[in-house]
Amino acid sequence: MCGIVGYIGTDKKVPVIIDALKRLEYRGYDSSGIALLMEDGSVVIEKKKGPISVLESELTDIWNSDKVLLGIAHTRWATHGEPNDTNAHPHTDCTGRVAVVHNGIIENFQHLKDMLIKEGHIFKSDTDTEVIAHLIEKYLKETGNPFEAFKKTIDTLEGAYALAVIIADEKDKIFFVRQQSPMVIGKSDKGTYIASDIPAILPYTRDIMPLEDGTYGYIDGKEVVLFDKEGNRIPFTPIKIDWDIESAEKKGYPHFMLKEIHEQPQTIQDALRGRIDIAKSEIVMPELDSLVDKLKTAKKVYITACGTAFHAGLILKYLLKTYTDLSVEADVGSEFRYMPWDLSRDKDDSIAVVISQSGETADTIAAMRLIKSYDIPVIGIVNVVGSTIYRESDVPLVINAGPEIAVASTKAYTNQLIVGYLLAMYIAKLRGFIDKQFEHQFVSDMLALPNLISTVLGVEETVKDIALNIKDSSNIFFIGRLLDHLINMEGSLKLKEISYIHSEAIQAGELKHGPLALISEGTPVIATVLQDRVKEKQISNIIEVRARKAKTIVLGYRDDIEAQSVADMFIGLPRIDSLFAPIAGIIPLQLLAYHVAVMRGNNVDKPRNLAKSVTVE
Ligand code: AGP
Repeated sequence: MCGIVGYIGTDKKVPVIIDALKRLEYRGYDSSGIALLMEDGSVVIEKKKGPISVLESELTDIWNSDKVLLGIAHTRWATHGEPNDTNAHPHTDCTGRVAVVHNGIIENFQHLKDMLIKEGHIFKSDTDTEVIAHLIEKYLKETGNPFEAFKKTIDTLEGAYALAVIIADEKDKIFFVRQQSPMVIGKSDKGTYIASDIPAILPYTRDIMPLEDGTYGYIDGKEVVLFDKEGNRIPFTPIKIDWDIESAEKKGYPHFMLKEIHEQPQTIQDALRGRIDIAKSEIVMPELDSLVDKLKTAKKVYITACGTAFHAGLILKYLLKTYTDLSVEADVGSEFRYMPWDLSRDKDDSIAVVISQSGETADTIAAMRLIKSYDIPVIGIVNVVGSTIYRESDVPLVINAGPEIAVASTKAYTNQLIVGYLLAMYIAKLRGFIDKQFEHQFVSDMLALPNLISTVLGVEETVKDIALNIKDSSNIFFIGRLLDHLINMEGSLKLKEISYIHSEAIQAGELKHGPLALISEGTPVIATVLQDRVKEKQISNIIEVRARKAKTIVLGYRDDIEAQSVADMFIGLPRIDSLFAPIAGIIPLQLLAYHVAVMRGNNVDKPRNLAKSVTVE
């Protein structure tokens, strides 16, 4: 997804801006560009399709120049117009004195473009963004005041946008606005910074303020001047970011994804922190204090999320249905809003859980806002502190996975599960569905997870052998029942997004109702056998696919001789309660996806066509 950077201060501008821009690469992009305001009042623009290194090679002459006063830059993920040099940001007006970088979508751009063309403006690109530069030009002519022109422009725009803008008439200001697209502002003794995301500017400052919707203003190298959406001046109130920069780097692993998979024993511990009273062996969730009455009396839970986070939501649904009397609805964010049911019918008896790593997924945010419009309390299971979902949910439950850089989510998923398990059991306890003995056992099993996951990571060599065996397949199927099917859904998503192999997770009992027709000699079938209550049924499904000469890769317990006997290849886990199987079972599936993708020579951390944070619908 697009990334924005802006800097004005005493350091050399170009190295800071390009370094910050590179720290946004993980969001996914197809082109990049920079606009620099020079001492003589000219605006220098460079923009290129492809990696930032291509842009960088165009900047050697200006790299250390003292004549650069300030700059803005952008990584683009195409939405309007194909990825090429022309459509890359920044975009300029007719005079070349206004430069704009934009994240989001301008919904009324066509109407504005038609109007501006009629007034004589000449457009160069196919983007919605270019209208912004021309609008500023128009209003600058009308008002003669750059800030007023900027303000009038944002009042005219409809849609989602985060903008950083240079207007050459103002040699010491970068203008910005945040409207439904993330933006943060930072300040240090070396200047002021704008970025789409905190990691971009973390090496330069830890005093960072995530902006609320509608906030606009400018930075001038020393001050951050801010206004709220009503136009009232508001103070710059940064939060201290204590993330370790090291943790946003690879730490010796060849890819962020592998590093993040191996971090899970630690991140799981971080998710448990503060949510278990070890002395009393009890679940404690002080964050939920304000919702206790509601959690005791509600009749219904709505769960919404996208992609991997939705898969975590399905497991939460399973747990709530198993351990409470709540009725639970789980829908992907992109559909939730369009469902024809009437939320007002049971709004007084409902709560909602919204799950998101980034906290910025547009579809999830839209679903959350709809839910909130009915006054249904929202619990946000979220990783990024300060993100939109973090700020707008009634109770954010932070999963503490740390920055997740690889596009394929791994450690955030397991931490979403951990928090989901705690939430489900906490609700079950409040409603009197679990007793003390069950809670103590649950707590002790949860506390054992970090060590268990370290042991499970030991299967990596076995998984590599399996990856080598299946890497050239065109189709790979996953079969399982109940919770095993739900983790298979996530395992299958992981495999397809980074290996580009077609893959499906099928409820094993559904095989003979259709999908069995797809199984032929040598088709890899990954069969998860971790749910004791359906084990015998699952074994007979494995025998069924073996009879069609499928290659069976069984994920089961090390001590399960029967599961091993139907496996061509076997991944053995230590014996655990089936309830916790998703948390342990997903690890080998993440490793399998990773190694298959590496063996196929794919860009594991940045798979084609995908972005880390999907901030458009
Ligand atoms: C995960 O591997 C995917 N890249 C994707 O499905 C992701 O989980 C989804 O876009 C939701 O993102 P979020 O958790 O940041 O809301």
